[in-house]
Amino acid sequence: MAKKLSTLPLNLRGPKPRMPLYRWLYEELRTTILAGRLHPGARLPATRDLATQYGISRPTIVTAFEQLRSEGYVEGKVGSGTYVSKTLPDELLQAPRAKSEARTRRRGIPLSAYARRLRPLPRSESRSARAFRASQPALDAFPTGLWAQVAARRLRRVSTRLLAGGEALGYRPLREAVAEYLNTSRGVKCTADQVLIISGVQQALDRAAHLLLDPGDPVWIEEPGYPGAAVVFRAVGAKICPVAVDSEGLNLEAGRRRWQQHPRLVYVTPAHQFPLGVTMSLRRRLSLLEWARRSRTIIFEDDYDSEYRYSGRPIPALQGLDRAEVVIFAGSFTDVLFPALRLAYLVVPSDMVDIFAAAESVSTHHPPLIDQAILCDFISEGHFARHVRRMRELYAERLSVLVESAGLRLAGLLEIPVVEAGLRTVGWLQGGILAERVAQAAAKYDVEVVPLSRYAYGRARSDGIVLGFAAVDARELRRGVEQLGRALQGCRP
Ligand SMILES: Cc1ncc(COP(=O)(O)O)c(C=O)c1O
Repeated sequence: MAKKLSTLPLNLRGPKPRMPLYRWLYEELRTTILAGRLHPGARLPATRDLATQYGISRPTIVTAFEQLRSEGYVEGKVGSGTYVSKTLPDELLQAPRAKSEARTRRRGIPLSAYARRLRPLPRSESRSARAFRASQPALDAFPTGLWAQVAARRLRRVSTRLLAGGEALGYRPLREAVAEYLNTSRGVKCTADQVLIISGVQQALDRAAHLLLDPGDPVWIEEPGYPGAAVVFRAVGAKICPVAVDSEGLNLEAGRRRWQQHPRLVYVTPAHQFPLGVTMSLRRRLSLLEWARRSRTIIFEDDYDSEYRYSGRPIPALQGLDRAEVVIFAGSFTDVLFPALRLAYLVVPSDMVDIFAAAESVSTHHPPLIDQAILCDFISEGHFARHVRRMRELYAERLSVLVESAGLRLAGLLEIPVVEAGLRTVGWLQGGILAERVAQAAAKYDVEVVPLSRYAYGRARSDGIVLGFAAVDARELRRGVEQLGRALQGCRP
């Protein structure tokens, strides 16, 4: 008589021809988890039962389980049971798709291939900031009164021309102010004609993906890297090719060894790699540019938070070193001012301006023009530069509180490397403590940390967590360190 299965048997679609069995099983289980048919905490069938049900060998099943484990979909040990993780990696990439897609499918609405691949990014946290919120600037320190004055003045004087709307590339005076700022402060070489105002770097990525990529085109992304880039590239059907990051940034040689085909596009964060925080060396920048020129690859340079540099020498943007017009440069006002503003800029090679403008003209037409005009006044009246200076001092202070109290309270448990820039840092766990466990334990102590594995595609280091230090004050940071210490003690192997 057939042996009774230890959990309900899974109804998986049969193996696909020409696909290795472990890969088929991995993909089927992953889809089942993301579609919610296996809930967080649910036990996966025993390898023995799966082997019997599908007639495949146990080592094949173990390989598929290991891959799911390394990507954070499942936890537990082979032998003592494997369970769907409480927090799934695709909650960053993101899982609710399964629900909405299933809903539309039930109604029989055929979705495009793009819609079927699309996953929303998680909404930003609605509860107030706490240690160590990684995705937020110091909103309590934003000069809202000053912003209100600048806005009121602009609205009182608003012209009918401004009310009528503007050109797709954005408010011309703001484009000029941005070009001046980038040429002076970021080592970018551009004229205002190459600057587009856009609703966030996220939208810039989406635009670039739609304009430059076809399904199947390979795209290199940093590993670990910003998940918002991968979701966009994946949605247009591009082939995601993760490339390791080392102490000099994206490792070009490792990429060339791993991926035979030339990519159409490379996504990098050279000023301050997300999330590891390394700055791409000048040598690496020059090699990347030369290789991109020869292989006709476009580089998307995401300069998302480089206004805040505390130490180390700033290196000119890749865009400023580019002689072959292969770089698209993007930066944002969201982390520098406030996320709800949703204004950012793109600098594109001159022969790409028209196509980016055309894409804008058929979608949003342009980001809200009055907000662009207010921001432009805020910059030209000198408030922007003053705000950046004040915030740099504040963040440097908050960073030193984090580093000092972690040095006192977390010695032997967590090591924070030298932080040169940005609003967040990676912390390295000591003595075999595992990041996923720490994130769960920390939440119980009312502390937010993100395991590094959430930003990885393949096998991720399990000893890294990301900590934000900008969003909350010194007192909250100290509380966070105390509580994190308790969480870490409880996670020691
Ligand atoms: C590396 C990176 N790039 C881009 C973005 C998105 O920027 P924006 O808010 O301008 O869309 C973020 C947001 O967190 C980010 O961390």
